[in-house]
Amino acid sequence: MTDKNYRLKNLSFSKEDLDIITLDDLEREQVCPGHIIFLSSKFNKPVLLMRAGDFVDPDFIQRYKKKGQKSFYIYKVSNDENIQTFNQLWITLKTAKLETERLIARKKLLTHFCELFWFEQNKARVLDFYLSTFNTFNRFDDEIIVQLRETDTLLCERGIQAASFSSIVALILGYTDFQLLSDIFHVTFLLDLGLVEKNYSYFIAQACEQERQKPGEGLHFLKKMNVSKSEYSLFYYHPVESMKIAKKRCIGVFYHPDVIKIISYQHELFNGKGFPSKINYWGLSEYETIPILVDAFVPFEETFYTESSEAGIFKKYVESLNENTKAELLPLRKSLNRLTLELNKILIEENENESDDSQVKLGA
Ligand SMILES: [Fe+2]
Repeated sequence: MTDKNYRLKNLSFSKEDLDIITLDDLEREQVCPGHIIFLSSKFNKPVLLMRAGDFVDPDFIQRYKKKGQKSFYIYKVSNDENIQTFNQLWITLKTAKLETERLIARKKLLTHFCELFWFEQNKARVLDFYLSTFNTFNRFDDEIIVQLRETDTLLCERGIQAASFSSIVALILGYTDFQLLSDIFHVTFLLDLGLVEKNYSYFIAQACEQERQKPGEGLHFLKKMNVSKSEYSLFYYHPVESMKIAKKRCIGVFYHPDVIKIISYQHELFNGKGFPSKINYWGLSEYETIPILVDAFVPFEETFYTESSEAGIFKKYVESLNENTKAELLPLRKSLNRLTLELNKILIEENENESDDSQVKLGA
């Protein structure tokens, strides 16, 4: 057995575990399929150039091409076959002409998705799902993604994750129209675009996670940390700022540009005491609550993908919301209950002869 003599974060590997990826091949990817590594012969240690799941910045590739670099080492953590399967399922849904065809495509895609990300006993890598979903839907100009990424790679990676889950949640709720799925994907990616600013700080990144865990807590946290007025307002007004920037710079990616307004509702509470607009929620449609729902379950945390399985990740997310009181504070209880019912229909059909462990429990 070869010694795993290299270490990178929580990864141990030897040179034999690495593949070569040419810069031309890497350039064709939108989301990085593995960890891009430079092996420094001088120091005999690996240098991480790009993480799996990160957006592949075309400028980064060009910079290295200009230097005469042809390829890099890659520690692959995605699986081409799995990505192809997802790609095919999305394409079948996209190209279906009749609603009956779309419903069949929906069922196939969701059954496959649940097999991987609902049942813990399977081996599944969620990066395959993110890669495929991003490739399927992304209509952004590179520069907007790069700007988000340059502010904080976490904001960009988490945007890719949340956007991917948004299109799946919409599909579970019964939206089969490809344009509606695409719009909800893009809205979700842009939720925190307003944070792309010079006052962005580590405290704001923490506030995002605090706010996600308990609505209102992000603002309390920033007050407790005694941050500057400009930092506090950046966080307080970011839903409206995100919406304004999206209207100005990304309107072309939307089939129904009206959906952009959803961005400004992201931190509003059910009782109208959220921020910054204090919106009353009674008029909100189920579709409009999808980004809020997804924003509440996808954590703001650095992901360093390894070969370990993320099977059951979606179940973990949905159940954490169902058990958490934040579902009562945010305007999403009705949508969450509907998501649960629709999920149960898919899961029960797939597991009629098995125990009911797979079922989702309804919240309050
Ligand atoms: Fe936000």
